[in-house]
Amino acid sequence: MHIFRHISSLREALLAERQQGKRIGFVPTMGNLHQGHLALMKKAKSRCEIAVASIFVNRLQFGLNEDWDQYPRTFESDCQQLNAVHCDYLFFPEEREIYPNGMDGQTRVIVPTMTDMLCGASRPGHFEGVTTVVSKLFNIVQPDEAVFGLKDFQQIAVIRHMVEDLCIPVEIIAGDIVREADGLAMSSRNHYLTESERSRANQLNKTLNWVKAQIVAGDRDYVELETEAQSQIIAAGFRVDYLQVCSSDMLTPAALDDTRLTVLGAMYTEAARLIDNVSLELPMSNP
Ligand code: PAF
Repeated sequence: MHIFRHISSLREALLAERQQGKRIGFVPTMGNLHQGHLALMKKAKSRCEIAVASIFVNRLQFGLNEDWDQYPRTFESDCQQLNAVHCDYLFFPEEREIYPNGMDGQTRVIVPTMTDMLCGASRPGHFEGVTTVVSKLFNIVQPDEAVFGLKDFQQIAVIRHMVEDLCIPVEIIAGDIVREADGLAMSSRNHYLTESERSRANQLNKTLNWVKAQIVAGDRDYVELETEAQSQIIAAGFRVDYLQVCSSDMLTPAALDDTRLTVLGAMYTEAARLIDNVSLELPMSNP
């Protein structure tokens, strides 16, 4: 795996690959890689001749009281894991390479829909930070495809919207959520859990699946289901950020005639905020 710290040298190397007709698949990450990231890398590699990863803990998407400074940085082990899945290029820039004029003067990319609700409601400015850095990374790498994990369901929806609006020629591919044996979605933030929290943290996934099962069984009182689901999370000792049945396409609260649904949830532990979601498709009702 070739490691680049500068935009110009990465661009030169990728241009040479592109000139040989090779397709480029890209997986942007913030490092501290786990099986979830590696599954995205494998997907990129199975679809494109060249797989590129980036590691950049993007300060712009963290709130002032969030964990930017504590976010685990594990470069050596990340490189070993990327090598094991045959990643071809790693972009590992310093902050001044991405934000040479500082962050205050940085041109921002703002997606006006889907960014103020759910995760956006409790993390103001988060998606602006994500879309700004992802559009910069897309301009740097110029991939044919970019693979993002479905755990960040809202993030993929927002990025798809941005790519369409800005006519960025990249195909956005979604990779399935990779879970621990007890159902907990893999996340770098799982490292923040105490032993006791870890033993109960799969409650989020259990509850989302419970909501899904109720809907499949015919329950359409989404507000009531959300209330019951929230009390399950609270009973397990966590604080709920949100738990909502949404239309999978617009992420708005599900209406009775929506058939593609996603149940999204976020909860707080002592030191972490964990997110998860499950999707389902209902049969079209007869007119
Ligand atoms: O999902 C993430 O790890 C980050 O939001 C991303 C896409 C790498 C942008 O910093």
